[in-house]
Amino acid sequence: MAATLTPDELLTTTRAVRKRLDLTKSVDRKTIEECISIASQAPNAGNAQSVHFLVVTDPERRASLAALYRRCSAGYFASRKPSMLPSSGDPVRDAAMERKFESELYLNEHLHEVPVHVIPCIIGRTDGLGIPAQAALWGSVYPAAWSFMLAGRVRGLAMTFTTIHLRAEEEAAGLLGIPFKEVMQAGLLPVAHAKGTRFRRGLRRPVSELAHWERW
Ligand SMILES: Cc1cc2nc3c(=O)[nH]c(=O)nc-3n(C[C@H](O)[C@H](O)[C@H](O)COP(=O)(O)O)c2cc1C
Repeated sequence: MAATLTPDELLTTTRAVRKRLDLTKSVDRKTIEECISIASQAPNAGNAQSVHFLVVTDPERRASLAALYRRCSAGYFASRKPSMLPSSGDPVRDAAMERKFESELYLNEHLHEVPVHVIPCIIGRTDGLGIPAQAALWGSVYPAAWSFMLAGRVRGLAMTFTTIHLRAEEEAAGLLGIPFKEVMQAGLLPVAHAKGTRFRRGLRRPVSELAHWERW
């Protein structure tokens, strides 16, 4: 179990965790089910309750998903090496981007070893829909996925949102028996026990740059 966290600590220190995933320890089914139960309480458009979670623990299926993920990410890793990108002018931000890249690369290489792959899904597809209908679908599945992450955090689990495999979403659907035309995958959460319990706030812009009062 993670250390007791205040609501503000939970919301500000639940990070994208990759290198601190414990690849040696299994995650029990009950804990995942508790997280899904909590996630099901997230707001959802029209109270349609159309968010589902596909949980993959089978090693061979995880290996296939990881291979697909790596195929999807190859272009990204080839073109986004921090050394190839222009400096932001802020050494702290540049260093953070470099750490992020290394961390992404680590997950990319170890994804098959992460004990649980959770795929949040929604009944319906956004293809060809207008913005309000798209917002209703994405805006239903992401709050639930974030609640899943938060519920996992207080139970000592860690993960990160990933979306790279969606470049081959239909192939992943075939692999997992998801009816692609009716059900959309929103990402892949690689879930494991966290190594350690202390996580820091992320690097973010100050409120003065983010908040727009009365008009943009
Ligand atoms: C919609 C979404 C998609 C993301 N996709 C990926 C991904 O494909 N692979 C990955 O390693 N991280 C992915 N991330 C994690 C982000 O890189 C991470 O949240 C960001 O670097 C900020 O880190 P922090 O949340 O710890 O502050 C994604 C995050 C979000 C919200």
